[in-house]
Amino acid sequence: MSNFANHNFKTTIFYQEMKNILVIGSTGQIGSELTMKLRSIYGNDAVVAGYIPGAEPKGELAETGPKEVVDITNAQQIADAVKKYDIDTIYNLAALLSAVAETKPLLAWKIGIGGLMNTLEVARECQCAVFTPSSIGSFGPNAPKDGTPQDTIQQPRTMYGVTKVSGELLSNYYYTRFGVDTRSVRFPGLISYVTPPGGGTTDYAVDIYYSAVKGEKFSCPINAGTFMDMMYMPDALRAAIEIMEADPTRLVHRNSFNIASMSFDPEIIYNCIKKYIPGFEMEYVPDLLRQGIADSWPNRLDDTCARVEWDWKPEYDLDSMTQDMIEKLRIKFGK
Ligand code: SER
Repeated sequence: MSNFANHNFKTTIFYQEMKNILVIGSTGQIGSELTMKLRSIYGNDAVVAGYIPGAEPKGELAETGPKEVVDITNAQQIADAVKKYDIDTIYNLAALLSAVAETKPLLAWKIGIGGLMNTLEVARECQCAVFTPSSIGSFGPNAPKDGTPQDTIQQPRTMYGVTKVSGELLSNYYYTRFGVDTRSVRFPGLISYVTPPGGGTTDYAVDIYYSAVKGEKFSCPINAGTFMDMMYMPDALRAAIEIMEADPTRLVHRNSFNIASMSFDPEIIYNCIKKYIPGFEMEYVPDLLRQGIADSWPNRLDDTCARVEWDWKPEYDLDSMTQDMIEKLRIKFGK
């Protein structure tokens, strides 16, 4: 472990090209797609799918490249994988989402902060860059709701948010103190047709497409009028890669950048889907836990700093995402 007395605050920053990448949490909602995307860019053998027993990679994720058991709460497993594959970049995607973190706060802390500490320590010793996503959930009710600035009061009220803000601070600390090349974005709710999210507050915006394509009435747990930032997965994957590839001399911020592409409430997404599936029906069945969390989050983030410092730009809006989601889910379900 680190010997703080031996470290000078004027550290050398270790920048290097992404060559060998470890994805921790490779079978989750983001990891399953990000691992494949990274393999398509950097080569199959260069991207290791880290997973925990019980969540083994399957299909093309298992077949196209290396995989290793890497439980983020086990520092030795991270270190072993980093040394075995000569890893220079770690994508740390292990986390409990917001609603489930409220029911398991100790586990959320153990994974979100204990796990991050393990990752940062290995990164410091082995000179790896680290990407750890933050979230719109890092903000609480005292933050400005509309056009939430990059640098503002955060004060989250959820355990998920507490781990995200702490993770941002810890990642910045490892950068300034030890020169670990940590970078991050605050993800909105992520929408995709590949791996469903589990236990998040923004999950409704994924579930609604599944119901629509399957011809089922959707029970919406979030009230009309509740706006949250959302993003289509292809844009999110691009953000996660572009921030790690960004020219470090241009980065004023690091952990973590606001990014945004669309903000809507349940009525707006419902009406957009109805344009393509006119018979689609929705009813409101409030979930008090998720509604309380959503009410404490911003309506819409200001992502100017990401646009200025590393040329962030989303490609999908609600309409183009909706068309693609419906098309891909129809293929998935043979509808
Ligand atoms: N999608 C996450 C959640 O709802 C927020 O980042 O928990």
